[in-house]
Formats: sequence, structure tokens, C-alpha cells
Amino acid sequence: MIEDLGRKLAEAEQYLRERIPASPEVGIVLGSGLGGLAEDIEKEVEIPYWDIPHFPVSTVKGHRGKLIFGTLSGKRVMAMQGRFHYYEGYSAAEVTFPIRVMRLLGVSVLIVSNAAGGVNPHFRPGDLMMIVDHINLIPDNPLRGPNDDTLGPRFPSMHNAYDRGLRDLAIEVARKKGVFLRQGVYVALPGPNLETPAEYLFVRTIGGDAVGMSTVPEVIVANHMGMKVLGFSVITNVANPYQPEPATHEEVVAMAERAGGELARLVKGILELL
Ligand code: HPA
Repeated sequence: MIEDLGRKLAEAEQYLRERIPASPEVGIVLGSGLGGLAEDIEKEVEIPYWDIPHFPVSTVKGHRGKLIFGTLSGKRVMAMQGRFHYYEGYSAAEVTFPIRVMRLLGVSVLIVSNAAGGVNPHFRPGDLMMIVDHINLIPDNPLRGPNDDTLGPRFPSMHNAYDRGLRDLAIEVARKKGVFLRQGVYVALPGPNLETPAEYLFVRTIGGDAVGMSTVPEVIVANHMGMKVLGFSVITNVANPYQPEPATHEEVVAMAERAGGELARLVKGILELL
């Protein structure tokens, strides 16, 4: 819970409005190693997080923290280069502050990406997975505390958390562009350690296809505020609980960068048709 959330959001919104040429339509969260897409944005304004009132500041190496405003595939976009994680010590409400600001600035479609471990036995490192649903196992919720009814409802539906229409569009674009796209359920754990073999098996058993440490708080808040969401995981490593092979953070980052190009191609194709 953030004290005075409404006032803080208004201050961040005003700060950004004074510096951007027009309202963004699409928000993009560039996850781990997927910053490559940032290079394709025709940039108009870049603003480091630390300049923006009440924005958290990222602590993880390799997570550069700035907002990028510009156009991508003819759409006005606002991208977060570097995101915040629960494991860094922020609350889920703090992690999602920038998502709320996106909505206030005019964003109606949010595209999120992350790196994740695959627990579906068909998955291979480097696969792209479109998120069809999630399970939140992060022991915090960004909506905990008094609800600000001007932002969204007390009990928002999560029935279509990853918008069906956008998913259909993504499938069509992937087919046309020859991008191999998996689909599955993303399970969010708090991290920061990677999972034990028993935990990977648990994630699979409860219905997960991939596991990671982000994204779900952002998606909850985006739905709270009425945004349509599309989410993708780059499967950086796969976990076979019966023949565990340890994943390292270095492997995860290297694989995310390699598969990031495919995802960038897909996202650009989707934006063209929005
Ligand atoms: N577990 C959790 N998060 C991850 C993983 C994983 O195996 N790979 C990339 N992010």
C-alpha cells in the first residue's frame, strides 16, 4: 500500500505530461534481456526513473531504468526499460506504480515481457510463450489496502487478464511471420533464488508452464485500471524435476537476449495491426 497514492500518481503524471509531445497509446514493459526492442522505437523523449517524482529506482545490474516515449510500428508507445521486482525489496504496490502512471497518461494496451523457466516438458530453452493466464504466488498484492475507486474496482475480475482478442491477434501475427509461439500459464514466485527441483515440480503440478519472479503484479494493476494486457515469456531454461540441471543467472540473461529478437519481431507485427 502506498500512502497518498492518488496525489503521488498525479505528481508523476504531471511531471511526465510536461515533457512528452503526446499521449501514449501502448505501454511496453521490457523484461530481462529483452531491451533490444528499445532500439527499434523512434524515440522522442527518454526520462530516467530517478528524475520522476515517486518512481522507485531499480537496483539490479543490467536493468537500466528509464522511460522511453516515441513511436513503434506507427503507434505511440511508452516503454519501461528496466522494471522493478518484489525481490528487490519493493512492495507489489511500489513495483506497479509506473503501470498506474501509464494508464493515467492514456495507455490502454499493455505489453509485458519476462524471462521465465519452463516446466512444461515440451518446452525448450529459447522458446517464446504467450501468457494465457497466471497464478500469483508472490506473497503480496498491489491492490492490498484501501481501494481508490477512482482508479478501479475493489474486486476486479481476472477472468480475461490476458486479453483474448489481443491473444488471437498475436497468434495470427506469429503464424504470418513464422514465429513459433507457445502458450501457457505463468506462475510468479517471489524469488530471488531459482527454484529447487521440488519447487519446479510443484509449479508444474499446480498447472504452470513457466515460472518467474515478475509480471503478475503489473498485470493485476493493469486489469484493475481497465487496460488490455498481452504478455510474453522467453523460456530461458527448462527444469526437469527428475533430472535437474542447475540454471544460472548468466544463462538466463544470455538466452533472453538471443530469443529477444524473435519477440521484438512479433511485437512490432502486433502493433501494426492494433
Ligand atoms: N525460475 C524463476 N525465474 C526465472 C527462471 C527460473 O527458472 N528462469 C528465468 N527466470
